[in-house]
Amino acid sequence: MKPEKKPMIVTCGLPYANGMAHLGHMRTYVPADIYVRSQRKQGREVVFICGSDTHGTPIVVNAEKEGVTPKELIAVYHDHFLKIFSRMGVHFDAFGTTDDPENHNRTTDIVQKLIDGGHVYSKNIDIAYCPHCDRFLPDRYVEGACPHCSKIARGDECDQGCGKPLYPGELIDPRCAVCKNPAEYRNQEHRFFKLSEFDGFLKRYLETLRGTDNAVNYAKGWVTQGLEDWCITRNMDWGVLFPGAEGLVVYVWVDAPIGYIAFTEEWAEKTGSSWEKFWKAPADENGQDSEIVHFIGGDIVYHHCIFWPAMLKGAGYSLPTDIVASGMVKIDDKKFSKSRGYVVWVGEDYLDHGFHPDLLRYYLAGYTSHTKDLNFGWEMLQEKVNSELVAVLGNLFYRSLLFASKNFGEIPKGTVEPEIENRIKATTTEAVDALLEYEFKKYTDIVMELASFSNTYFQSHEPWALIKTDKEKCGGVVYNCLQLVKALAVLFEPVAPGKMQEAWEQLGLSSQVASVLYEEALVPLVPGSGLGKPEILFTKLEDDKIAEMAEIAKKRVYLAMKEAGLIPDGEKLPDENGDKKKSDKKASDKKMSDKKTSAPIEGSAPIEGSAPKEDSGKSAPDSARAAGEKSMENEEPKAELLPEISIDDFFRAQIKVGKILSAETIEKSTKLYKIMVDVGEDAPRQIVSGIRAYYEAEDLIGKTVCVIVNLKPAKLCGVQSQGMILAADDGSGKVSLLEPDQELGPGSKIC
Ligand code: 2FM
Ligand code: ZN
Repeated sequence: MKPEKKPMIVTCGLPYANGMAHLGHMRTYVPADIYVRSQRKQGREVVFICGSDTHGTPIVVNAEKEGVTPKELIAVYHDHFLKIFSRMGVHFDAFGTTDDPENHNRTTDIVQKLIDGGHVYSKNIDIAYCPHCDRFLPDRYVEGACPHCSKIARGDECDQGCGKPLYPGELIDPRCAVCKNPAEYRNQEHRFFKLSEFDGFLKRYLETLRGTDNAVNYAKGWVTQGLEDWCITRNMDWGVLFPGAEGLVVYVWVDAPIGYIAFTEEWAEKTGSSWEKFWKAPADENGQDSEIVHFIGGDIVYHHCIFWPAMLKGAGYSLPTDIVASGMVKIDDKKFSKSRGYVVWVGEDYLDHGFHPDLLRYYLAGYTSHTKDLNFGWEMLQEKVNSELVAVLGNLFYRSLLFASKNFGEIPKGTVEPEIENRIKATTTEAVDALLEYEFKKYTDIVMELASFSNTYFQSHEPWALIKTDKEKCGGVVYNCLQLVKALAVLFEPVAPGKMQEAWEQLGLSSQVASVLYEEALVPLVPGSGLGKPEILFTKLEDDKIAEMAEIAKKRVYLAMKEAGLIPDGEKLPDENGDKKKSDKKASDKKMSDKKTSAPIEGSAPIEGSAPKEDSGKSAPDSARAAGEKSMENEEPKAELLPEISIDDFFRAQIKVGKILSAETIEKSTKLYKIMVDVGEDAPRQIVSGIRAYYEAEDLIGKTVCVIVNLKPAKLCGVQSQGMILAADDGSGKVSLLEPDQELGPGSKIC
């Protein structure tokens, strides 16, 4: 349970002001906005904070590419984000930039406090330097092999591989990201934050931290693995000057989260309020007297759960109480990638085409749970909108309001039936509880259930027949339908604020539904009061429009591939008819949401290798360990049961949980991947697996899988394999890796 009504700051990870807003951004900001609206509906004081992240190499590199100064670049994109948020109904109380004087001052103050507290020291380290460009290469200016997983990584983060933060001097074979020439390491003095000293504090703190498991549990694991001190200076002339270190600026990951405090100060100045009550909150026996809730993307958990609380603690500020990390976004089942064209721009691809923001808000909240990957496709949006918002919620609102307006012209006489009252009460409690756990999908499902119940109530009471025989009784039924509409408008406002305000006005209510508390859902409508004009709230998304959008998406991928040289010269965009059939088929194969896809794979046994049979043209995997084993190649998977084994037989196979670090194709094979898996040992294991037909290599990275670790090593297509990754096969060609249903550290034993 949340502590009672302490003042709350809710923040969202700051978008870099270096490009346009896309769906990946909205995946975090829309649920955060829903959360804030819901907290306010419970009567809590909430300040909602965000702003532009304007320093560091993400800005400087893009400014250089576009031939503008960093200041010019950030002005354009800061303004862009402000407009997009406003159009999406995401309303921050403050949206500053990390280049604001407030943030320069607050950062200087915090860094100085860390220095004064003895938490910072100087050390000479190797920094990548490009002799060709004649400059030092911080962060994104340098690329090379990750020392942990060998994937190509950039200077401060292994963004394509294991995801670990990297420190200056760690990349192997560094080269300049601008001119691509080899870089050399040069020794230079930098400042380090003594993160390792916060080990004990972080262990205790993480036990109290609330939020999503994908944040809190990861962080606990990292602290257990040990913490390295953190280099917090950079050789750049753009950023916050590091106090007492000429020529160096503060690392962007120091001044960016400090923006949360600086923007609260900006809000406080504007409204005559106190920022200290949030960030310098007094502590009592129940903890600190404010709540600080950070909504972030799943890729910046380390920064928020480790670096940030340690910095705050060191400088004497309040600590985050909840860290809520969202899952990733996929576009048409493909990993989100701007360079490959798998991207949806919120402005140009969605809002500018006239789609209502509330449809996307509903999709983002209701597609899947907050921590899982969210897949976006135009046909899926269409199905969710048409079958849920139009057919269920919109239908109820319009039929109830139209019937009332036509037959009574006002709110008819009636009283709220006990069953209706109980339903509204129970729905509100359940929905609010779901958001305590950051379960946005559950929230929308619970509210939609009330809408379905309401439709059944309308239908089963047949007001259209009753009006002819007993107008008074009919009035009572309609009154209850309208009360349900009112309750739904209150409950659904956090998700669809624009549409619910329209509904509110159609009910004849003059207040702002965003400002009413949940308890208003139960306040009876006043018989005899006027109604607004009934209008259809949600209209169907038509096939033509969706096909047009899918076409735009397809062209973007084609152009991106062409630019990357992946499409031979002269080859055209696939013709529309041929491709339409394919995409229709794909749409019917597509899974709408968790509700429809959560069927367990029954009776499926782990398969070895799971390689497809290329010769037969069938996609069913063979049960060979991998495709290279000729003798097994033509056997069908066994349908019948094998002879019984004892539990001891079973435990002769040692199965452990592993995390996939990298996956590469094997040249000599069309079916196999060489996969590096961390199974909690000193070094990762190399495993050859025949799952190439079922997974893109990039999608495998980061997956948690089950691995037989005591299988005799074997060579497949000339590549050594030290184990087997378990997968299940449903017999029709669908193959799925076996993944634990919650995050487990590498090395966990299957028991
Ligand atoms: O990863 C990012 O996009 C960063 N701009 C997020 C910063 S969040 C906070 F720390 F400011
Ligand atoms: Zn790596």
